[in-house]
Amino acid sequence: MSESKLWDDVDAYFISHLSPDDDVLEAALRDSDAAGLPRVNVTANQGKLLHLLARIQGARTILEIGTLGGYSTIWLARALPAEGRLVTMEYSARHAEVATRNIARAGLDAVVDVRVGPALESLPKLADENPAPFDLVFVDADKANNPHYLEWALRLTSTGSLIVLDNVVRGGRVADPDNPDADVRGTRAAIELIGSHPRLSGTAVQTVGSKGYDGFALARVLA
Ligand code: SAH
Ligand code: DHB
Ligand code: MG
Repeated sequence: MSESKLWDDVDAYFISHLSPDDDVLEAALRDSDAAGLPRVNVTANQGKLLHLLARIQGARTILEIGTLGGYSTIWLARALPAEGRLVTMEYSARHAEVATRNIARAGLDAVVDVRVGPALESLPKLADENPAPFDLVFVDADKANNPHYLEWALRLTSTGSLIVLDNVVRGGRVADPDNPDADVRGTRAAIELIGSHPRLSGTAVQTVGSKGYDGFALARVLA
C-alpha cells in the first residue's frame, strides 16, 4: 500500500466517525466542482478542526481570508452563536458567487459577509469600519501575501485571539530557504514573523491526509 493511499484510508476512517455525512457540506463541494472551482478546500476533518478551534476559542467573530466555495466558511460559521459574525474575503467574483449560494443553503447568510476583491484592498476597508476585534482569523488565500495578512490580522484582533494559517508545509518545501517560489517565501516570512513578533506565540504542525503532506500554523495574540 502506498503511503498516500494509507493517508487517504486513515482520513476516510476518521471522517466516517468524527465528521460524517453532511448534506449541506457535500452539496457545497458538489456545486463547487460543477462550477469548476479548484478542489483545494480543507478536508472534512480539517474543517472539523477549524470548527472545534472556533468553539474552544468561544469565537463570536471570525475573519477568513480565502473563501473559495465557502466550505471552510461553513465549518467555521457553524461554530458561531446566532448573533455571531464571519467576514470572508475572496478575490474571485466567480468563487464568491458559488460560496454565497453554498452559505445561503447552509442557512448562514445572516451570519456570513462575503467581500469580493483582493484581500489587501478589502482589509483596509474593513479596518475603516472599526469592527469589534476578531476572535479567530483563518488565513487561506494567496500564500505570497501571508506576512501582510498576518500584519492585518494583528490589527484586527486583540489579546487572546487565534490566527490560523493553512498550507504552511506544502510537501516540505517550507524548509528550503532557497526555494524561489513566492508562496514558499511568503509562508516562510509568516512563520518567521510569528516566531519573532512580541505579540504572537505560535507553533506549526505537519499534517498528512487526502490533501497530501501539508500543515497549519497557529498563533495566539498576546497583550
Ligand atoms: N478556505 C477555502 C479554500 C481557499 S482556496 C476552503 O478551505 O474551503 C484559496 C482562495 O483564495 C481561492 O478561492 C482564491 O481565489 C482566493 N484568493 C487568492 N488570492 C486572493 C487575494 N489576493 N485576495 C483574496 N482571495 C484570494
Ligand atoms: C492548495 C491547497 C490549499 O489548501 C489552498 O488553500 C490553496 C492551494 C493546493 O493544494 O494547491
Ligand atoms: Mg488552504
